[in-house]
Amino acid sequence: MSAPTLGNVLVTGGAGFIGSALSQRLAVRASRWVVLDNLHPQVHPTAVRPASLHESAELVVGDVTDPAAWSALLADFRPDVVVHLAAETGTAQSLHYATRHAEVNVVGTTTMLDAFGSMNHVPRQFVLSGSRAVYGEGSWKKSSGELFSPGQRTHAQLQEAHWDFPDAVPLPSQALTTWPSPTSVYGATKLAQEHILTAWTGSHDSALTVLRFQNVYGPGQSLTNPYTGIVSLFSQLAMRGESIPVYEDGLITRDFVYIDDVADSLATVLVTGPTGDGPSTFDVGSGIGTTILELASLIADFHGAPQPHITGAFRDGDVRHASTDIGRTLENLDWAPQWSVERGISALQSWIAEQQNS
Ligand SMILES: NC(=O)c1ccc[n+]([C@@H]2O[C@H](COP(=O)([O-])OP(=O)(O)OC[C@H]3O[C@@H](n4cnc5c(N)ncnc54)[C@H](O)[C@@H]3O)[C@@H](O)[C@H]2O)c1
Repeated sequence: MSAPTLGNVLVTGGAGFIGSALSQRLAVRASRWVVLDNLHPQVHPTAVRPASLHESAELVVGDVTDPAAWSALLADFRPDVVVHLAAETGTAQSLHYATRHAEVNVVGTTTMLDAFGSMNHVPRQFVLSGSRAVYGEGSWKKSSGELFSPGQRTHAQLQEAHWDFPDAVPLPSQALTTWPSPTSVYGATKLAQEHILTAWTGSHDSALTVLRFQNVYGPGQSLTNPYTGIVSLFSQLAMRGESIPVYEDGLITRDFVYIDDVADSLATVLVTGPTGDGPSTFDVGSGIGTTILELASLIADFHGAPQPHITGAFRDGDVRHASTDIGRTLENLDWAPQWSVERGISALQSWIAEQQNS
């Protein structure tokens, strides 16, 4: 690969799942790079530096909400580029820990910006890990052709097993055409991050790219954090030879995007930036919607486990269908997903087996 080109790079939350994958790509491209991460106990139960974080990263253990941590860091290090990954990430959990999500995701972002302001330092580029959670249920289309944002499914609706919105079909989300309408506190805080960074960078002659990730999975994802990632949960059930329970009627849809594709999208934006005009907010997914039943069957088949079973159970606040149209991303970024869900799931199973045998 080519010589370093990026200057000083700061990655907040860079010791996590996505940050560790990105670290393999950053190692050869940054002059110096620092990870600011508090080694959150839910993500890092042993509170030690993850082996998957490339050795070239200088890890500073600190909290993005702590002004003193920022002062100490910036006294010694002025980043040219900031990749802002640090976040509380539990979508369902955010309903019960709303303040914690707001503090880290919203106030953590403003604390970072205030620290740059007080040091009179403006990084030339920010990249934010946005989320598909900002769309909530996204846009749906009635049989009359009318588009609408359906809001959130009610508890009563779910109890009656009315899983979909009547007389309508969901449309894949796309940053320029789908009105953000988060149905989780997490999603609301991720949208707030976008707005805050847009306002700040716009006033400071700094570039911002927002990558809205779909459901990221793959080697390196947490096998212990119960609040993130059904792929890991399903995999562990199937490995034990159990039938995977699937909520609702099995037809909840998600776009599962492989970790390498996500890390590559970040590296692409850092190295070449977006091309063309227009807002620098892009959807990053596989571009293919997969039902949860399809996912569970794929994993069950891989392990020769019994077929999944539909439970009809539900979780309040779960989005029914989430898929994305990545056409505009493909046009504007020198990037395209390389991993099919079949290949990615298979690679993940091998990695999980290795972890359990080591
Ligand atoms: N994984 C996904 O499916 C997904 C999808 C969409 C968006 N995202 C976004 O991508 C980013 C990274 O997600 P991930 O999957 O790597 O999550 P992760 O939980 O594996 O990593 C997050 C990292 O942030 C750190 N962190 C948490 N709170 C912090 C704080 N207060 N101060 C400093 N560090 C803190 C954690 O210790 C962890 O290392 C997040 O912003 C998340 O919202 C992830």
